[in-house]
Amino acid sequence: VRTARADDAAAILNLWSLARGASASTADPPATIERLLARDPGALLVAHLDAMIVGTAIATWDGWRGHIYRVAVTPERRRQGMGRLLVTAAQARLRTLGATKVNVAVDEHDPGSIAFWLAVGYRRDRGMSRFAKAL
Ligand SMILES: CC(C)(COP(=O)(O)OP(=O)(O)OC[C@H]1O[C@@H](n2cnc3c(N)ncnc32)[C@H](O)[C@@H]1OP(=O)(O)O)[C@@H](O)C(=O)NCCC(=O)NCCS
Repeated sequence: VRTARADDAAAILNLWSLARGASASTADPPATIERLLARDPGALLVAHLDAMIVGTAIATWDGWRGHIYRVAVTPERRRQGMGRLLVTAAQARLRTLGATKVNVAVDEHDPGSIAFWLAVGYRRDRGMSRFAKAL
């Protein structure tokens, strides 16, 4: 796992077109990656096998909480520990930056995602719901 570079953008967008979560609804124009790398150069992590990008995670720290987004592994490489590796790397980054808690939004209707997050040590925050609004 390493930090993404600007020239990874096409491969990352290709991966997300195949592998992002079923409930992810934001569009993925190339500018989103440029903007993320400019705003927070270490936030976007990629898992690679040789030269091929096979997974991603976004780990952000805002000075208050850590957040992990876009954990995605290419379909043919799933169940090989890649997702766990990405979450471990994301958590290591957040811990180094000072985060003591990490929040993740998980699709209630995706049993695979729920099983994954439980397997990597996350617990449902019962009583809390995510509210969202488009700006
Ligand atoms: C969720 C996802 C990232 C998991 O990646 P992965 O590389 O397959 O995960 P790992 O191999 O590290 O799995 C670790 C453990 O999680 C659990 N797990 C992972 N996927 C699972 C699934 N589909 N069903 C049940 N349990 C699952 C298992 O306990 C697994 O350990 P095991 O294989 O030894 O049984 C991948 O399926 C994916 O990209 N899904 C689409 C994107 C998405 O939904 N992301 C999550 C939303 S943020």
